[in-house]
Amino acid sequence: MKELGCPRMIYIFIYLLSYGYLALIFPSFCLGSPKLLFSNRKDIQLTDSSLVNSNSTVLLAGLSEAAAVDFLYEKDKKGKDRTTFCWTEHYEGIFCATSPNLDNPVKIVSNGVHTPDGLAIDWVTQKLYWVDADLQHIEVCELKDGSHRKVLYYDRVDQPRALALDPRTGYMYWTDWGEEAKIERAGMNGDLSTRTTVISEEISWPNGLTIDYLERKLYWVDASLSYIHTADIDGANRGVVINGSLAHPFAITVYKDRLYWTDWKNKSIFSCNKSDCNVITKVQGNLYAPMDIEVFTSERQEEIANPCAVNNGNCSHLCLLAPAGGLNCACPTGTVLNADNHTCADVDEMIFLSRRFDLRMISLDTPDFTDTIIAVGEVAHAIAIDFDPVERYVYWTDDEIRLIQKAKLDGTDQSTIVSVEVMNPDGVAIDWISRNIFWTDTGTNRIEVARLDGSSRRVIISDELDEPRAIVVDPVNG
Ligand SMILES: *[C@@H]1O[C@H](CO)[C@@H](O)[C@H](O)[C@H]1NC(C)=O
Ligand SMILES: *[C@@H]1O[C@H](CO)[C@@H](O)[C@H](O)[C@H]1NC(C)=O
Ligand SMILES: *[C@@H]1O[C@H](CO)[C@@H](O)[C@H](O)[C@H]1NC(C)=O
Ligand SMILES: *[C@@H]1O[C@H](CO)[C@@H](O)[C@H](O)[C@H]1NC(C)=O
Ligand SMILES: *[C@@H]1O[C@H](CO)[C@@H](O)[C@H](O)[C@H]1NC(C)=O
Ligand SMILES: *[C@@H]1O[C@H](CO)[C@@H](O)[C@H](O)[C@H]1NC(C)=O
Repeated sequence: MKELGCPRMIYIFIYLLSYGYLALIFPSFCLGSPKLLFSNRKDIQLTDSSLVNSNSTVLLAGLSEAAAVDFLYEKDKKGKDRTTFCWTEHYEGIFCATSPNLDNPVKIVSNGVHTPDGLAIDWVTQKLYWVDADLQHIEVCELKDGSHRKVLYYDRVDQPRALALDPRTGYMYWTDWGEEAKIERAGMNGDLSTRTTVISEEISWPNGLTIDYLERKLYWVDASLSYIHTADIDGANRGVVINGSLAHPFAITVYKDRLYWTDWKNKSIFSCNKSDCNVITKVQGNLYAPMDIEVFTSERQEEIANPCAVNNGNCSHLCLLAPAGGLNCACPTGTVLNADNHTCADVDEMIFLSRRFDLRMISLDTPDFTDTIIAVGEVAHAIAIDFDPVERYVYWTDDEIRLIQKAKLDGTDQSTIVSVEVMNPDGVAIDWISRNIFWTDTGTNRIEVARLDGSSRRVIISDELDEPRAIVVDPVNG
């Protein structure tokens, strides 16, 4: 258990009241006195917001490229407080750890993540939202296990960075420091018609963004114009908090009267009064590389009725908050919503792609053409790939581990079809009518066929073949 440094009086009080439960309720109980949660590239720390240069606690150490961070405060089934911390690491994925087991982080999202600089947890429906500047999109998935990943916005997303959610209204906000720098707003349900630009003038490099939930205001920092500005959550009534004197502000957060932000050049966390920012306090200095920052208090996660609480809102997959109030069902990338608006359907047109270390598919029936990885075990050097539309299995060859295998599109039920007398299986073709698999082998210089389970194998052509590679079948014409 990590010592999170509650004020001593509270500590003793809890100790007397609930001897024996101390490890479970601690540290979440400390949420009463606001702390700052921040990522620092190689670790994630918690520090006291009211003291200058107080000793911060390293919650999670040994990280490589920690960028964005957020937390979920909840009561478990027994009514005890529990906190989950989630963070992103460039090119690694998204991780979460739940107190008191912070030593056992779980990789929630492990592929298709490049530069996730913004991350936010919808604490109402327990979803994880993030932006990726390399992949130029905004995604959502289930917080509990990373399932049901869906790309929500991808069109005209240039260099998204900070992300803030407003579950009370069903809107999310993000900054984009691309060619046309701006702050955008859109429904948390991915409804394209709800998307609008709220700030587009006097903005250049908007790194950080936060929502003041009490006063319904946005606050953001700009690293190029060196300012902190504010506006109503629809972009109106813009105001200056501090203009042109910051070094390189990165992320910002707010708690009651005070703003807190990280600065890359000064490697520090600063704070000022949001309505009178003339006096800037350094909360923490000499940091390694301060990145994202959040005020760590349950007050930032107001209890809001969850429309998805009963039966997942009758949704088969994602149940997302909607701007009009209520919810919308949504489907993982690569599947489409049925006419019933509640369930998801497989798509009919897909492109399959084998890459050296993974297999991917791209749905042609959804507009974003986002590729999804088929989560099979060990791909050493995948070469050829084909699909059986009847049983919906994908078949692929691997010329390093020298196998022909199959699996379902969700990666389950993986099995080996051919494992002996196979050298460089470079082409594969499924005869979906006769239920046969054909393949070429540039090592054995043969073309072979077998039943789809690998039985009844025989060589069709072995003479006068030099390097047989691509193969297709035309079952209709034999
Ligand atoms: C921080 O920790 C060091 C070493 O443990 C101690 O000497 C110092 O007094 C502490 N500072 C504060 C502000 O608690
Ligand atoms: C803030 O700075 C910008 C650029 O330096 C300037 O155009 C703007 O008028 C300033 N705003 C205020 C309120 O001082
Ligand atoms: C940060 O450092 C610069 C000098 O590099 C200084 O001018 C600035 O006032 C410092 N403070 C803040 C809040 O950025
Ligand atoms: C912040 O500034 C406002 C306006 O000057 C003032 O009313 C308020 O008391 C200040 N808050 C704190 C915590 O100092
Ligand atoms: C879910 O379905 C039940 C039964 O049809 C219905 O009473 C309920 O209102 C539905 N809930 C939502 C959120 O649509
Ligand atoms: C599904 O949603 C669309 C768009 O909101 C709506 O036009 C349609 O009537 C809904 N269908 C059902 C069965 O509720």
